[in-house]
Amino acid sequence: MIHFSRQSLAQELVAALKGQTVFGDAHNGLFLAAPRRTGKSTFLQADLKPALEAAGAVVAYVDLWADPRRDPGALIADAIARALAPRLGVVSRAAKAAGLDSVTIAGALKIDVSKIGRMDGVTLPDALRALHEAARAPVALIVDEAQHALTSEAGEATMSALKSARDQLNRPGEVNLMLVMSGSDRDKLLRLVNTNGAPFYGSQISRMPSLGRDFIDHVSRLITAQRPDLAPVDAALLLQAFDSFGHRPQFFMEALGQALSPLSGLQGVRFEQAVLQAAKERQDADEAQMESEYLALRPLEQAVLWRLLAQGSRFRPYDGEALRFYRDQVTGRVTPQMVQRALESLRERNPALVWKSARGEYAVDDAAMHRWYEQRAREERWPPVDPQGPLAMYDDEATAPDDKNAA
Ligand SMILES: Nc1ncnc2c1ncn2[C@@H]1O[C@H](COP(=O)(O)OP(=O)(O)O)[C@@H](O)[C@H]1O
Ligand SMILES: [Mg+2]
Repeated sequence: MIHFSRQSLAQELVAALKGQTVFGDAHNGLFLAAPRRTGKSTFLQADLKPALEAAGAVVAYVDLWADPRRDPGALIADAIARALAPRLGVVSRAAKAAGLDSVTIAGALKIDVSKIGRMDGVTLPDALRALHEAARAPVALIVDEAQHALTSEAGEATMSALKSARDQLNRPGEVNLMLVMSGSDRDKLLRLVNTNGAPFYGSQISRMPSLGRDFIDHVSRLITAQRPDLAPVDAALLLQAFDSFGHRPQFFMEALGQALSPLSGLQGVRFEQAVLQAAKERQDADEAQMESEYLALRPLEQAVLWRLLAQGSRFRPYDGEALRFYRDQVTGRVTPQMVQRALESLRERNPALVWKSARGEYAVDDAAMHRWYEQRAREERWPPVDPQGPLAMYDDEATAPDDKNAA
């Protein structure tokens, strides 16, 4: 496995987080969005975290997708406790040995010894302050897949607690708490910043740049070094293949590995062409996957998902227009309760197709589905039609056969 290090991007972000750039408000929180599997977590852990540490910060990293069933507040508290532990270990062991139930850090903050490692959302600002004072350094908290916090009330409370910690710890010209939030879906991340009651109202979401030409040049140099017989490498073609792979390094590297393998069986075809071909096949496979998932849904689920894809953030599941839309797609009765059940079952699928926030806002779970929908709609190939016709299998809600889909 190769890792392409993105140090200059990391340096830029560190400067912005420290408030050293004249414009921008990253010191109030840096929000980064980029599609799944494009290298966010890798960048945050392998590039940004060390760069922040080199700049003197103590860093806690947490991925809210690592365990989606656990309360985001608890996951974040764990990450802080992990960063705090090596600094408090000695202090708290000494306190326990002396029979004390709390320790005082930096002469100011009292912490209940028994609670270290089991902090809840309410004590997050205290925990962050403790970490800051124990380390005598600015604290950086990196929350990966932060939008996941919005799916529960506990998670929302955690986000508000982080904001209040930021306001308590930071002063003009002095940044003691740096917050980095990343997400795979800009629209969901937006909900942290774009409504009046949102925890980070007013902040901007930046698109995290995807890997690109630099990465491909790096890979090309490695190929030339290992296989001089293949020089010169057609980097432009490789870049085109990488674009077609949706800038997802893992798929690209797999295809490259196969094309370069002595067992590839390529004859008279350059490996760059083979990688490009693999990228096209991957695109087709991704679309076929979404199509078969869609076709496997019940008619009302299809109609609800269709409406959500078409409406995006304007989606209102139960308004009159939406109900009329469902009724046009599905023969038979459609009640708001039935729509609600359809939404629930779209959320409960594995992988989930629909995402719901604690405030009852909906979104498709994977933003890639929007691109798929839009492209098909443009080409007038929407909705997908099952070549075998509708399945003669209805659920007990007696969803009648769907005439439209049969046509
Ligand atoms: N800078 C990089 N260099 C090489 N491979 C990378 C790099 N960043 C990501 N990858 C590969 O891409 C895969 C997905 O990256 P990841 O960071 O998990 O993406 P995300 O968090 O955006 O979903 C990883 O398994 C890794 O192998
Ligand atoms: Mg990730």
